Amino acid sequence: MRAEIYWAFGLFLGVVVTAALVNTFSPAFRSRVRRVVVLYGFYVVALATWLGLEAAHSEPWASRFLIVAQLLQAFTTVNVVATIAFAVVLPKTGVSLPTIATDLLVGFGYVLSTLGVLGGHGLNPSSLIASGAVVSAVIAISLQQTLGNILGGVALQLDDSIHEGDWIQLENGRQGKVRSIRWRHTVVETRDWSTMIVPNSQLLAANIMILGKREGRSVPQRMWVWFNVDFRHSPNRVIQVVTDALLASPIDGVATDPKPNCICMDFTRERREAMASYAVRYWLTDLAADDPTSSRVRTRIFAALRRAQIPLALPAITNIIEVDDEQRVAKRTMRNRKERLNALRTVHIFQFLQEEELEQLADGMSHVIYSSNEIITRQGATAHWLYVMTAGTAEVRTNVDPDGSGPLPEEARLVATLKAPDFFGEMGLMTGEPRRADVVAVTDVDCFRLGKETFERVLLARPEIATELSLKLATRRVELLAIREELDEGARSSRVADERVRILGGIKKFFGL
Ligand code: CMP
Repeated sequence: MRAEIYWAFGLFLGVVVTAALVNTFSPAFRSRVRRVVVLYGFYVVALATWLGLEAAHSEPWASRFLIVAQLLQAFTTVNVVATIAFAVVLPKTGVSLPTIATDLLVGFGYVLSTLGVLGGHGLNPSSLIASGAVVSAVIAISLQQTLGNILGGVALQLDDSIHEGDWIQLENGRQGKVRSIRWRHTVVETRDWSTMIVPNSQLLAANIMILGKREGRSVPQRMWVWFNVDFRHSPNRVIQVVTDALLASPIDGVATDPKPNCICMDFTRERREAMASYAVRYWLTDLAADDPTSSRVRTRIFAALRRAQIPLALPAITNIIEVDDEQRVAKRTMRNRKERLNALRTVHIFQFLQEEELEQLADGMSHVIYSSNEIITRQGATAHWLYVMTAGTAEVRTNVDPDGSGPLPEEARLVATLKAPDFFGEMGLMTGEPRRADVVAVTDVDCFRLGKETFERVLLARPEIATELSLKLATRRVELLAIREELDEGARSSRVADERVRILGGIKKFFGL
Protein backbone atom coordinates (compact mmCIF):
# COMPACT_ATOMS: atom_id res chain seq x y z
CA MET A 1 0.00 0.00 0.00
CA ARG A 2 2.82 2.31 0.95
CA ALA A 3 4.49 1.68 -2.44
CA GLU A 4 1.26 2.71 -4.23
CA ILE A 5 1.10 5.96 -2.27
CA TYR A 6 4.76 6.73 -3.11
CA TRP A 7 4.02 6.01 -6.79
CA ALA A 8 1.03 8.36 -6.72
CA PHE A 9 3.13 11.09 -5.14
CA GLY A 10 6.05 10.54 -7.55
CA LEU A 11 3.72 10.62 -10.51
CA PHE A 12 2.18 13.85 -9.21
CA LEU A 13 5.62 15.45 -9.26
CA GLY A 14 6.16 14.04 -12.78
CA VAL A 15 2.89 15.63 -14.00
CA VAL A 16 3.76 19.00 -12.45
CA VAL A 17 7.27 19.01 -13.97
CA THR A 18 5.88 17.99 -17.38
CA ALA A 19 3.28 20.78 -17.27
CA ALA A 20 5.95 23.35 -16.33
CA LEU A 21 8.34 22.18 -19.07
CA VAL A 22 5.65 22.19 -21.78
CA ASN A 23 4.37 25.57 -20.65
CA THR A 24 7.86 27.05 -20.83
CA PHE A 25 9.31 25.39 -23.93
CA SER A 26 6.46 24.06 -26.10
CA PRO A 27 3.13 25.77 -25.32
CA ALA A 28 1.74 24.34 -28.59
CA PHE A 29 1.65 20.91 -26.90
CA ARG A 30 -0.55 21.94 -23.97
CA SER A 31 -3.29 19.55 -25.12
CA ARG A 32 -0.94 16.65 -24.33
CA VAL A 33 -0.55 17.94 -20.76
CA ARG A 34 -4.34 18.08 -20.46
CA ARG A 35 -4.48 14.40 -21.40
CA VAL A 36 -1.86 13.59 -18.74
CA VAL A 37 -3.75 15.52 -16.04
CA VAL A 38 -7.07 13.82 -16.88
CA LEU A 39 -5.43 10.37 -16.77
CA TYR A 40 -3.79 11.23 -13.48
CA GLY A 41 -7.16 12.37 -12.10
CA PHE A 42 -8.75 9.02 -13.03
CA TYR A 43 -5.78 7.24 -11.52
CA VAL A 44 -6.16 9.09 -8.19
CA VAL A 45 -9.91 8.32 -8.12
CA ALA A 46 -9.24 4.61 -8.79
CA LEU A 47 -6.51 4.58 -6.15
CA ALA A 48 -8.76 6.24 -3.57
CA THR A 49 -11.55 3.75 -4.34
CA TRP A 50 -9.10 0.87 -3.90
CA LEU A 51 -7.92 2.28 -0.54
CA GLY A 52 -11.58 2.66 0.58
CA LEU A 53 -12.43 -0.90 -0.46
CA GLU A 54 -9.31 -2.20 1.28
CA ALA A 55 -10.30 -0.43 4.48
CA ALA A 56 -13.80 -1.97 4.17
CA HIS A 57 -12.20 -5.40 3.55
CA SER A 58 -14.22 -5.81 0.39
CA GLU A 59 -11.66 -8.15 -1.09
CA PRO A 60 -12.62 -9.11 -4.71
CA TRP A 61 -13.54 -5.52 -5.59
CA ALA A 62 -10.45 -4.10 -3.94
CA SER A 63 -8.15 -6.19 -6.14
CA ARG A 64 -10.10 -5.27 -9.28
CA PHE A 65 -9.75 -1.59 -8.49
CA LEU A 66 -6.08 -2.10 -7.78
CA ILE A 67 -5.67 -3.46 -11.33
CA VAL A 68 -7.58 -0.46 -12.73
CA ALA A 69 -5.48 1.95 -10.66
CA GLN A 70 -2.24 0.31 -11.78
CA LEU A 71 -3.32 0.37 -15.43
CA LEU A 72 -4.13 4.09 -15.14
CA GLN A 73 -0.87 4.64 -13.32
CA ALA A 74 1.01 2.92 -16.17
CA PHE A 75 -0.86 4.91 -18.86
CA THR A 76 -0.15 8.18 -17.03
CA THR A 77 3.53 7.26 -16.78
CA VAL A 78 3.67 6.40 -20.51
CA ASN A 79 2.10 9.77 -21.30
CA VAL A 80 4.41 11.72 -19.01
CA VAL A 81 7.45 10.11 -20.64
CA ALA A 82 6.00 10.58 -24.15
CA THR A 83 5.14 14.25 -23.52
CA ILE A 84 8.61 15.07 -22.23
CA ALA A 85 10.22 13.14 -25.11
CA PHE A 86 8.03 14.34 -28.03
CA ALA A 87 7.00 17.80 -26.85
CA VAL A 88 10.10 19.02 -25.02
CA VAL A 89 13.25 17.04 -25.88
CA LEU A 90 12.74 16.23 -29.60
CA PRO A 91 11.80 19.79 -30.66
CA LYS A 92 14.92 21.04 -28.86
CA THR A 93 17.08 18.69 -30.93
CA GLY A 94 15.34 19.79 -34.13
CA VAL A 95 13.77 16.36 -34.75
CA SER A 96 10.03 16.23 -35.33
CA LEU A 97 8.07 13.00 -35.49
CA PRO A 98 4.74 12.88 -37.35
CA THR A 99 1.65 12.72 -35.10
CA ILE A 100 0.81 9.23 -36.27
CA ALA A 101 4.28 7.94 -35.34
CA THR A 102 4.12 9.41 -31.82
CA ASP A 103 0.58 8.06 -31.37
CA LEU A 104 1.82 4.61 -32.46
CA LEU A 105 4.68 4.70 -29.95
CA VAL A 106 2.33 5.73 -27.15
CA GLY A 107 -0.09 2.92 -28.20
CA PHE A 108 2.79 0.48 -28.09
CA GLY A 109 3.62 1.73 -24.57
CA TYR A 110 -0.01 1.14 -23.51
CA VAL A 111 0.05 -2.46 -24.82
CA LEU A 112 3.34 -3.26 -23.06
CA SER A 113 2.27 -1.71 -19.76
CA THR A 114 -1.14 -3.45 -19.92
CA LEU A 115 0.58 -6.80 -20.46
CA GLY A 116 2.96 -6.01 -17.58
CA VAL A 117 0.20 -5.05 -15.12
CA LEU A 118 -2.03 -8.00 -16.05
CA GLY A 119 0.93 -10.41 -15.93
CA GLY A 120 1.80 -9.06 -12.47
CA HIS A 121 -1.67 -10.08 -11.30
CA GLY A 122 -1.32 -13.61 -12.57
CA LEU A 123 -3.34 -13.18 -15.75
CA ASN A 124 -1.80 -15.00 -18.73
CA PRO A 125 -0.74 -12.42 -21.33
CA SER A 126 -0.48 -15.01 -24.16
CA SER A 127 -4.14 -15.99 -23.78
CA LEU A 128 -4.95 -12.30 -23.72
CA ILE A 129 -3.00 -11.79 -26.95
CA ALA A 130 -4.82 -14.71 -28.57
CA SER A 131 -8.25 -13.46 -27.58
CA GLY A 132 -7.14 -9.93 -28.48
CA ALA A 133 -6.12 -11.18 -31.94
CA VAL A 134 -9.54 -12.75 -32.47
CA VAL A 135 -11.24 -9.54 -31.41
CA SER A 136 -8.90 -7.53 -33.64
CA ALA A 137 -9.66 -9.76 -36.62
CA VAL A 138 -13.40 -9.31 -36.10
CA ILE A 139 -12.96 -5.55 -35.79
CA ALA A 140 -10.65 -5.47 -38.81
CA ILE A 141 -13.21 -7.22 -41.01
CA SER A 142 -16.01 -4.93 -39.95
CA LEU A 143 -13.91 -1.79 -40.22
CA GLN A 144 -12.05 -2.70 -43.39
CA GLN A 145 -12.34 0.69 -45.04
CA THR A 146 -11.47 2.63 -41.91
CA LEU A 147 -8.44 0.45 -41.34
CA GLY A 148 -7.41 1.01 -44.98
CA ASN A 149 -7.47 4.72 -44.31
CA ILE A 150 -5.55 4.38 -41.07
CA LEU A 151 -2.88 2.21 -42.68
CA GLY A 152 -2.81 4.71 -45.55
CA GLY A 153 -2.15 7.48 -43.03
CA VAL A 154 0.62 5.47 -41.41
CA ALA A 155 2.16 4.70 -44.81
CA LEU A 156 1.99 8.36 -45.87
CA GLN A 157 3.80 9.40 -42.72
CA LEU A 158 6.36 6.66 -42.87
CA ASP A 159 7.33 6.90 -46.54
CA ASP A 160 7.68 10.66 -46.18
CA SER A 161 6.16 11.41 -49.59
CA ILE A 162 3.64 14.09 -48.65
CA HIS A 163 4.25 16.67 -45.95
CA GLU A 164 2.15 19.25 -44.24
CA GLY A 165 2.48 22.49 -46.23
CA ASP A 166 2.93 20.71 -49.60
CA TRP A 167 0.78 21.78 -52.55
CA ILE A 168 -0.80 18.76 -54.20
CA GLN A 169 -3.02 18.07 -57.19
CA LEU A 170 -5.52 15.25 -56.90
CA GLU A 171 -6.54 13.01 -59.78
CA ASN A 172 -9.68 15.06 -60.33
CA GLY A 173 -7.48 18.12 -60.97
CA ARG A 174 -8.27 19.88 -57.69
CA GLN A 175 -5.32 21.56 -56.07
CA GLY A 176 -4.69 22.52 -52.48
CA LYS A 177 -2.22 22.83 -49.65
CA VAL A 178 -1.89 19.94 -47.19
CA ARG A 179 -2.88 21.29 -43.80
CA SER A 180 -2.53 18.06 -41.81
CA ILE A 181 -2.25 14.31 -42.24
CA ARG A 182 -4.54 12.66 -39.71
CA TRP A 183 -5.12 9.03 -38.84
CA ARG A 184 -8.05 8.53 -41.21
CA HIS A 185 -7.85 11.40 -43.66
CA THR A 186 -5.73 14.25 -44.94
CA VAL A 187 -6.96 17.82 -44.70
CA VAL A 188 -6.29 19.85 -47.86
CA GLU A 189 -7.08 23.55 -48.12
CA THR A 190 -7.96 24.82 -51.58
CA ARG A 191 -7.28 28.29 -53.00
CA ASP A 192 -10.97 29.16 -52.89
CA TRP A 193 -10.95 28.93 -49.10
CA SER A 194 -12.56 25.50 -48.93
CA THR A 195 -11.23 22.46 -47.13
CA MET A 196 -11.12 19.00 -48.71
CA ILE A 197 -11.11 15.91 -46.54
CA VAL A 198 -9.34 13.22 -48.57
CA PRO A 199 -9.44 9.65 -47.19
CA ASN A 200 -5.85 8.43 -46.83
CA SER A 201 -6.51 5.18 -48.72
CA GLN A 202 -7.59 7.31 -51.72
CA LEU A 203 -4.40 9.37 -51.54
CA LEU A 204 -2.34 6.21 -51.71
CA ALA A 205 -4.33 4.58 -54.49
CA ALA A 206 -4.41 7.60 -56.82
CA ASN A 207 -1.67 9.44 -58.72
CA ILE A 208 -1.06 12.52 -56.66
CA MET A 209 1.02 15.33 -58.06
CA ILE A 210 3.14 17.30 -55.60
CA LEU A 211 3.39 20.80 -57.03
CA GLY A 212 6.53 22.94 -56.97
CA LYS A 213 8.85 20.27 -55.53
CA ARG A 214 11.78 18.34 -56.92
CA GLU A 215 13.94 15.90 -55.01
CA GLY A 216 12.22 17.05 -51.83
CA ARG A 217 13.20 20.69 -52.40
CA SER A 218 10.75 23.50 -53.09
CA VAL A 219 11.13 24.94 -56.59
CA PRO A 220 8.96 27.47 -58.45
CA GLN A 221 6.14 25.93 -60.47
CA ARG A 222 6.15 26.41 -64.24
CA MET A 223 2.98 28.06 -65.50
CA TRP A 224 1.60 28.74 -68.98
CA VAL A 225 -0.24 31.70 -70.40
CA TRP A 226 -1.58 31.31 -73.94
CA PHE A 227 -2.38 33.98 -76.48
CA ASN A 228 -2.97 34.11 -80.21
CA VAL A 229 -1.72 36.52 -82.82
CA ASP A 230 -2.69 36.29 -86.46
CA PHE A 231 -0.30 35.54 -89.32
CA ARG A 232 0.23 39.15 -90.36
CA HIS A 233 2.82 39.39 -87.59
CA SER A 234 5.97 37.34 -87.72
CA PRO A 235 6.51 34.97 -84.79
CA ASN A 236 10.02 36.36 -84.33
CA ARG A 237 8.74 39.85 -83.71
CA VAL A 238 5.91 38.74 -81.44
CA ILE A 239 8.33 36.67 -79.36
CA GLN A 240 10.82 39.52 -79.21
CA VAL A 241 8.25 42.12 -78.13
CA VAL A 242 6.76 39.89 -75.44
CA THR A 243 10.10 38.59 -74.15
CA ASP A 244 11.52 42.12 -73.89
CA ALA A 245 8.49 43.25 -71.89
CA LEU A 246 8.66 40.22 -69.58
CA LEU A 247 12.33 40.72 -68.83
CA ALA A 248 12.33 44.51 -68.65
CA SER A 249 11.33 44.55 -64.98
CA PRO A 250 10.28 41.92 -62.45
CA ILE A 251 6.64 40.88 -62.12
CA ASP A 252 5.33 40.16 -58.59
CA GLY A 253 5.11 36.40 -58.01
CA VAL A 254 7.22 35.49 -61.07
CA ALA A 255 10.68 33.99 -60.47
CA THR A 256 13.57 35.81 -62.11
CA ASP A 257 15.48 32.54 -62.35
CA PRO A 258 14.51 30.70 -64.52
CA LYS A 259 13.53 33.70 -66.62
CA PRO A 260 10.06 33.87 -68.15
CA ASN A 261 10.06 33.17 -71.89
CA CYS A 262 7.78 33.24 -74.89
CA ILE A 263 7.49 30.55 -77.54
CA CYS A 264 5.40 29.94 -80.62
CA MET A 265 3.53 26.71 -79.86
CA ASP A 266 1.27 26.06 -82.81
CA PHE A 267 -0.37 27.34 -85.96
CA THR A 268 -4.17 27.35 -86.03
CA ARG A 269 -4.70 25.66 -82.70
CA GLU A 270 -8.41 25.60 -83.14
CA ARG A 271 -9.09 24.49 -86.66
CA ARG A 272 -10.11 27.02 -89.27
CA GLU A 273 -8.33 29.83 -87.43
CA ALA A 274 -5.66 31.80 -89.26
CA MET A 275 -3.38 32.53 -86.36
CA ALA A 276 -0.35 31.38 -84.44
CA SER A 277 -0.58 30.30 -80.82
CA TYR A 278 2.02 31.54 -78.40
CA ALA A 279 2.73 30.63 -74.83
CA VAL A 280 4.50 32.53 -72.14
CA ARG A 281 6.07 30.19 -69.62
CA TYR A 282 6.97 31.60 -66.26
CA TRP A 283 7.87 30.17 -62.87
CA LEU A 284 5.44 30.90 -60.07
CA THR A 285 7.06 31.60 -56.69
CA ASP A 286 3.93 31.51 -54.52
CA LEU A 287 1.56 28.70 -55.41
CA ALA A 288 -1.24 30.32 -53.43
CA ALA A 289 -1.25 33.35 -55.75
CA ASP A 290 -1.57 31.62 -59.14
CA ASP A 291 -4.46 33.63 -60.59
CA PRO A 292 -3.30 37.14 -59.59
CA THR A 293 0.19 36.36 -60.92
CA SER A 294 -1.19 34.99 -64.17
CA SER A 295 -3.28 38.15 -64.49
CA ARG A 296 -0.17 40.33 -64.02
CA VAL A 297 1.66 38.35 -66.71
CA ARG A 298 -1.30 38.70 -69.11
CA THR A 299 -1.50 42.44 -68.45
CA ARG A 300 2.21 42.77 -69.25
CA ILE A 301 1.77 40.80 -72.51
CA PHE A 302 -1.29 42.82 -73.49
CA ALA A 303 0.39 46.17 -72.90
CA ALA A 304 3.54 45.13 -74.80
CA LEU A 305 1.55 43.94 -77.81
CA ARG A 306 -0.55 47.10 -77.79
CA ARG A 307 2.55 49.31 -77.78
CA ALA A 308 3.97 47.33 -80.67
CA GLN A 309 0.61 47.58 -82.45
CA ILE A 310 0.25 43.82 -82.61
CA PRO A 311 -3.38 43.00 -81.90
CA LEU A 312 -4.44 39.74 -80.25
CA ALA A 313 -6.06 37.49 -82.86
CA LEU A 314 -9.78 37.53 -83.37
CA PRO A 315 -11.54 34.39 -84.55
CA ALA A 316 -11.22 34.12 -88.34
CA ILE A 317 -14.98 34.11 -88.69
CA THR A 318 -15.21 37.59 -87.16
CA ASN A 319 -15.83 40.17 -89.84
CA ILE A 320 -15.19 43.71 -88.80
CA ILE A 321 -16.96 45.95 -91.24
CA GLU A 322 -16.19 49.60 -90.91
CA VAL A 323 -17.71 51.89 -93.44
CA ASP A 324 -15.15 54.65 -93.58
CA ASP A 325 -16.76 57.40 -95.56
CA GLU A 326 -15.05 60.78 -95.56
CA GLN A 327 -17.36 62.21 -92.96
CA ARG A 328 -16.67 59.39 -90.50
CA VAL A 329 -12.93 59.62 -91.02
CA ALA A 330 -13.01 63.37 -90.42
CA LYS A 331 -15.13 62.92 -87.31
CA ARG A 332 -12.79 60.30 -85.91
CA THR A 333 -9.73 62.43 -86.64
CA MET A 334 -11.36 65.39 -84.88
CA ARG A 335 -12.19 63.25 -81.85
CA ASN A 336 -8.65 61.88 -81.64
CA ARG A 337 -7.12 65.30 -82.02
CA LYS A 338 -9.41 66.71 -79.33
CA GLU A 339 -8.38 63.97 -76.93
CA ARG A 340 -4.70 64.64 -77.59
CA LEU A 341 -5.14 68.41 -77.38
CA ASN A 342 -6.85 68.06 -74.02
CA ALA A 343 -3.93 65.97 -72.79
CA LEU A 344 -1.39 68.50 -74.12
CA ARG A 345 -3.17 71.41 -72.42
CA THR A 346 -2.45 69.80 -69.05
CA VAL A 347 1.31 69.93 -69.74
CA HIS A 348 2.37 73.14 -68.06
CA ILE A 349 5.63 73.45 -70.01
CA PHE A 350 3.48 73.84 -73.14
CA GLN A 351 1.11 76.42 -71.69
CA PHE A 352 2.65 79.23 -73.70
CA LEU A 353 2.34 77.38 -77.04
CA GLN A 354 -0.09 78.71 -79.60
CA GLU A 355 -3.17 76.72 -80.63
CA GLU A 356 -1.75 75.74 -84.06
CA GLU A 357 1.48 74.60 -82.42
CA LEU A 358 -0.45 72.44 -79.98
CA GLU A 359 -2.45 70.98 -82.88
CA GLN A 360 0.73 70.14 -84.70
CA LEU A 361 2.03 68.31 -81.62
CA ALA A 362 -1.33 66.55 -81.11
CA ASP A 363 -1.26 65.15 -84.64
CA GLY A 364 2.15 63.60 -84.04
CA MET A 365 1.23 61.84 -80.78
CA SER A 366 0.50 58.13 -80.36
CA HIS A 367 -1.38 56.28 -77.63
CA VAL A 368 0.49 53.68 -75.53
CA ILE A 369 -0.19 51.72 -72.38
CA TYR A 370 2.06 50.21 -69.70
CA SER A 371 1.21 47.64 -67.06
CA SER A 372 2.13 48.09 -63.41
CA ASN A 373 5.85 47.74 -62.56
CA GLU A 374 6.97 48.27 -66.15
CA ILE A 375 9.87 50.66 -66.55
CA ILE A 376 8.75 53.32 -69.00
CA THR A 377 12.00 55.24 -69.22
CA ARG A 378 15.30 53.93 -67.98
CA GLN A 379 17.96 56.15 -66.49
CA GLY A 380 20.87 56.62 -68.90
CA ALA A 381 18.89 55.54 -71.99
CA THR A 382 18.60 57.68 -75.12
CA ALA A 383 15.37 59.65 -75.13
CA HIS A 384 12.94 59.24 -78.02
CA TRP A 385 9.67 60.35 -76.48
CA LEU A 386 7.93 62.72 -74.15
CA TYR A 387 4.97 61.15 -72.34
CA VAL A 388 1.68 62.77 -71.34
CA MET A 389 -0.22 60.58 -68.88
CA THR A 390 -3.97 60.23 -69.25
CA ALA A 391 -4.52 57.57 -66.58
CA GLY A 392 -2.54 55.91 -63.80
CA THR A 393 0.37 56.66 -61.51
CA ALA A 394 4.12 56.44 -62.09
CA GLU A 395 7.17 57.04 -59.94
CA VAL A 396 10.34 58.88 -60.85
CA ARG A 397 13.27 57.03 -59.29
CA THR A 398 16.98 57.61 -59.50
CA ASN A 399 19.80 55.40 -58.34
CA VAL A 400 22.80 57.10 -59.83
CA ASP A 401 24.07 60.57 -59.51
CA PRO A 402 22.00 62.70 -61.91
CA ASP A 403 25.12 64.57 -63.03
CA GLY A 404 27.09 61.41 -63.67
CA SER A 405 29.65 62.48 -61.04
CA GLY A 406 29.91 62.07 -57.30
CA PRO A 407 29.05 59.11 -55.07
CA LEU A 408 26.24 56.72 -55.97
CA PRO A 409 23.26 56.50 -53.61
CA GLU A 410 22.76 52.91 -52.40
CA GLU A 411 19.28 52.26 -53.70
CA ALA A 412 16.79 53.74 -56.11
CA ARG A 413 15.32 56.80 -54.47
CA LEU A 414 11.90 58.16 -55.09
CA VAL A 415 12.12 61.60 -56.65
CA ALA A 416 8.49 62.29 -57.48
CA THR A 417 5.17 60.56 -57.96
CA LEU A 418 3.43 61.41 -61.18
CA LYS A 419 -0.33 61.05 -61.55
CA ALA A 420 -2.37 61.61 -64.68
CA PRO A 421 -2.61 64.29 -66.01
CA ASP A 422 1.16 64.70 -65.70
CA PHE A 423 4.05 64.41 -68.11
CA PHE A 424 7.63 63.15 -68.14
CA GLY A 425 10.53 62.47 -70.47
CA GLU A 426 10.83 66.11 -71.51
CA MET A 427 14.39 66.50 -70.21
CA GLY A 428 15.91 63.91 -72.53
CA LEU A 429 13.67 64.69 -75.48
CA MET A 430 14.44 68.38 -75.49
CA THR A 431 18.13 68.41 -74.68
CA GLY A 432 19.28 65.11 -76.21
CA GLU A 433 20.83 64.19 -72.86
CA PRO A 434 20.44 60.64 -71.52
CA ARG A 435 17.38 60.01 -69.37
CA ARG A 436 17.94 61.47 -65.91
CA ALA A 437 15.84 58.95 -63.96
CA ASP A 438 13.79 55.77 -64.21
CA VAL A 439 10.08 56.32 -64.59
CA VAL A 440 8.21 53.23 -63.41
CA ALA A 441 4.48 52.51 -63.80
CA VAL A 442 3.01 51.99 -60.33
CA THR A 443 -0.45 51.18 -61.69
CA ASP A 444 -1.41 50.50 -65.29
CA VAL A 445 -0.56 53.71 -67.12
CA ASP A 446 -2.21 55.16 -70.25
CA CYS A 447 -0.35 57.89 -72.05
CA PHE A 448 0.24 59.74 -75.28
CA ARG A 449 3.77 59.78 -76.60
CA LEU A 450 5.31 62.64 -78.50
CA GLY A 451 8.33 61.98 -80.72
CA LYS A 452 11.34 64.21 -81.32
CA GLU A 453 10.57 64.92 -85.00
CA THR A 454 7.16 66.42 -84.25
CA PHE A 455 8.54 68.58 -81.49
CA GLU A 456 11.44 69.66 -83.70
CA ARG A 457 9.06 70.93 -86.41
CA VAL A 458 7.31 73.18 -83.89
CA LEU A 459 10.53 74.40 -82.34
CA LEU A 460 12.17 75.23 -85.65
CA ALA A 461 9.15 77.25 -86.69
CA ARG A 462 9.40 79.43 -83.54
CA PRO A 463 12.79 79.13 -81.80
CA GLU A 464 11.78 81.49 -78.90
CA ILE A 465 9.91 78.52 -77.46
CA ALA A 466 13.26 77.20 -76.28
CA THR A 467 13.72 80.13 -73.86
CA GLU A 468 10.35 79.54 -72.19
CA LEU A 469 10.92 75.82 -72.03
CA SER A 470 14.34 76.14 -70.43
CA LEU A 471 12.89 77.71 -67.24
CA LYS A 472 10.33 74.95 -66.78
CA LEU A 473 12.90 72.25 -67.43
CA ALA A 474 15.44 73.86 -65.07
CA THR A 475 12.91 73.87 -62.20
CA ARG A 476 12.30 70.12 -62.50
CA ARG A 477 15.97 69.40 -62.95
CA VAL A 478 16.90 71.24 -59.76
CA GLU A 479 14.27 69.28 -57.84
CA LEU A 480 16.12 66.16 -58.88
CA LEU A 481 19.51 67.57 -57.82
CA ALA A 482 18.09 68.90 -54.55
CA ILE A 483 17.42 65.34 -53.38
CA ARG A 484 21.09 64.45 -53.50
CA GLU A 485 22.53 67.76 -52.47
CA GLU A 486 19.89 68.73 -49.90
CA LEU A 487 19.67 72.28 -51.25
CA ASP A 488 17.77 74.96 -49.33
CA GLU A 489 15.34 77.39 -50.95
CA GLY A 490 17.95 80.09 -51.72
CA ALA A 491 20.42 77.63 -53.19
CA ARG A 492 17.66 76.14 -55.31
CA SER A 493 16.71 79.41 -57.04
CA SER A 494 20.29 80.29 -57.90
CA ARG A 495 20.74 76.74 -59.19
CA VAL A 496 17.60 77.12 -61.34
CA ALA A 497 19.12 80.21 -62.98
CA ASP A 498 22.36 78.34 -63.75
CA GLU A 499 20.54 75.27 -65.01
CA ARG A 500 18.34 77.42 -67.23
CA VAL A 501 21.33 78.80 -69.09
CA ARG A 502 22.82 75.35 -69.42
CA ILE A 503 19.57 73.74 -70.64
CA LEU A 504 18.86 76.52 -73.13
CA GLY A 505 22.32 75.97 -74.57
CA GLY A 506 21.56 72.25 -74.71
CA ILE A 507 18.24 72.68 -76.51
CA LYS A 508 19.74 75.07 -79.04
CA LYS A 509 22.62 72.77 -79.73
CA PHE A 510 20.47 69.66 -79.97
CA PHE A 511 18.00 71.18 -82.43
CA GLY A 512 20.60 73.29 -84.24
CA LEU A 513 18.86 76.58 -83.44
P1 CMP B 1 14.07 62.43 -68.72
O1 CMP B 1 15.37 62.73 -68.10
O2 CMP B 1 13.95 62.50 -70.19
O3 CMP B 1 13.60 60.97 -68.21
C1 CMP B 1 13.28 60.80 -66.83
C2 CMP B 1 12.19 61.78 -66.48
O4 CMP B 1 11.81 61.83 -65.13
C3 CMP B 1 12.67 63.17 -66.72
O5 CMP B 1 12.93 63.37 -68.09
C4 CMP B 1 11.53 63.95 -66.15
O6 CMP B 1 10.43 64.00 -67.02
C5 CMP B 1 11.13 63.09 -64.98
N1 CMP B 1 11.59 63.78 -63.77
C6 CMP B 1 12.82 63.94 -63.34
N2 CMP B 1 12.83 64.68 -62.21
C7 CMP B 1 11.58 64.99 -61.92
C8 CMP B 1 10.92 65.72 -60.87
N3 CMP B 1 11.62 66.27 -59.90
N4 CMP B 1 9.58 65.81 -60.89
C9 CMP B 1 8.88 65.20 -61.85
N5 CMP B 1 9.45 64.54 -62.86
C10 CMP B 1 10.76 64.41 -62.91
